[in-house]
This record gives sequence, C-alpha cells and structure tokens, in this order.
Amino acid sequence: MSTTSESSRNRSKSSSTTAVLVATIRAVHLRFHATRIFEDDYALHMLPPFWHAVASYRLMKWLVSDVILGVYRPVYPAVVLRARYTEDQLMEAMKEGVNQYVILGAGFDTFTLRHKDIADRLQVFEVDHAATQEVKRQRIMKANGSIPDNLTFVPVDFENDRLDEELSKAGFDSQTPAFFSWLGVTYYLTQEAIRDTLERVAAMSAPGTRLVFDFKTAKHMMSAEWRTLAEKMEGFVARRGEPMLTDFTPQSLTDLLERYGYQEVEMMPPEEQQKRYLGDSSEIEPAEFFHFAQFAVAPPAEEKDS
Ligand SMILES: C[S@@+](CC[C@H](N)C(=O)[O-])C[C@H]1O[C@@H](n2cnc3c(N)ncnc32)[C@H](O)[C@@H]1O
Repeated sequence: MSTTSESSRNRSKSSSTTAVLVATIRAVHLRFHATRIFEDDYALHMLPPFWHAVASYRLMKWLVSDVILGVYRPVYPAVVLRARYTEDQLMEAMKEGVNQYVILGAGFDTFTLRHKDIADRLQVFEVDHAATQEVKRQRIMKANGSIPDNLTFVPVDFENDRLDEELSKAGFDSQTPAFFSWLGVTYYLTQEAIRDTLERVAAMSAPGTRLVFDFKTAKHMMSAEWRTLAEKMEGFVARRGEPMLTDFTPQSLTDLLERYGYQEVEMMPPEEQQKRYLGDSSEIEPAEFFHFAQFAVAPPAEEKDS
C-alpha cells in the first residue's frame, strides 16, 4: 500500500475538520454579513458546539473568526462564492432536464435540506468518507427529523475506492446527463486521485454531464501577499490532518480535462467572481488563489464528427 493511500485511510477514519470549518464560514456569512451571497440556513445545524457558538454569538465570532483566525479572513469568501456559483449553474442545468446531482466531497453541504421543494425532481448522491457521512447523518436527523428521501450517501475514498462502481450501486443513471460538484476538495487530493475521479466521471456519465469545481492556483501565479497567506493556510489545514497536495494553472487544468474527454464551459477566476456576484462591494472580495471551473463531458469522438 502506498504511503498516500495509508495516510488517506487514516484521514478517512475521523470526520473532516475542514468540512466543519467551511460550514462555519457559511453560517457566519448568513448571520453576520450584510452582503448576502449565499443563504445556507441549515449550516448552523451541522456544527459541533464550539463552532455553533462561533457562528451564533457576535463576541465569539469576533474573537475566533476575526482575531484568532483573522489572518485567514481573505479566504472565507471563496466558500460562499463557489457554493452560489455551483447552485446557480445547477438550477440552469435542471431547466434543461438534469435530474441527478452528485456532490463529490459533500462534507456538510446542506443542499437537500434547503431545496425540499425540488426533491421530487432531483436525485442527490453525496460522496465522501464514511466517517464524515456518519456525523452528518446524525446532524441531519437532529435538525430535520429524517434523511431527505432524495438523498443517498455514497461512501467513497477518492484515493482508494472506485467511484463509478459505488455510484452505480447507489442507483446513479449513466444514461441521462447529470450535474457533479466538487467543491473544496481537489487541493486535498493527489494528482492520481484527481485523474482517476475525472476519468471515472467521464466514463460513467452521459454526454452533456456538467462538472463544477474549484481549484487552487499554482504558487508562481500568486502575488507575494497571497503566496504568504496560501502557505499559512496550507500549514493550518495540514496540522488538522488534511494537507493540501495539488494545485493547477488554468491551462494545466484545461489540458488535463480535455485529455479525459471534457470540454471547457467556463472558467471563473477571481475577477469574474467579483464581476458576477459582488460588483462594487468591498465587504467581500474573492480570494486570489481560488478559481472555479465548469466542464462538460463531451460526446464520444464518432458522435462529434457526425
Ligand atoms: C473542505 S471540505 C468541503 C466540503 C463541501 N464540499 C463544502 O464545500 O462544504 C472537503 C471535503 O472533502 C472530503 N474529502 C477529502 N479527501 C477525500 C477523499 N480522499 N475521499 C473522499 N472525500 C474526501 C472531506 O471529507 C471533506 O468533507
């Protein structure tokens, strides 16, 4: 067994800390920000007591989020911006008939709780480590009394398991286009796990299937100020057992996805995020090193030619 698989197996034994942190960012955003990008009114219910208090009480929020962890503040907006972008794109895809949503590395994403009105039109598959899913199941039961009927948990470790086999066992339909999101995950994976996931998603999905995700840019693209912050952030998450392993340039990413049979739909660098969602707002600014991307599974070569 490789060292990477071993360390991934060790990580997968406990619930994800970074998943709690980003759910806290969404809960804090809803409670404390005047500029409202994304309304996650179930995020608070996903949090353990300490982070629940941070997202509930102004003094706690100030002390923990603005002072103790204040150096990371410029990174927080990426979490709400990527969620907003993804769900906007999902709603557009549903207008075109998409009825399956696969959330890769779902963590404490609360989509099914927030969108009960469309439950009869959308089957949702949440993919993550079993340990994180177990904690989430308990928090959903507490907040909602039951697991939404349209939600299926699919336990998968991207480093070790076969995503395609597990999704099809769970009932994923390869014949109709689906929508995949992969938020806050790619940088925690090895290159091998990213390639494997891209290959399996392309192979198991109908042409037209969309994949939306975020990625961290390579250090040489960052300004000195953001590079220093990226290094601090990498140390912070590594100390919590979730090291960041992979980054891309937009070009290296596009080359990789094209190799696995995808077509680029849209790239969302920070300038585009600003333009589309923030305008002149100065309360929230996108993080320089988190870009979003949307790709579609291309039709097989013979279909393209005809
Ligand atoms: C930063 S959290 C993001 C959670 C969620 N997508 C969101 O934006 O709120 C990263 C998630 O990826 C999951 N993850 C990381 N590595 C993984 C792996 N090898 N296999 C499965 N899930 C993984 C973690 O368990 C965690 O839930």
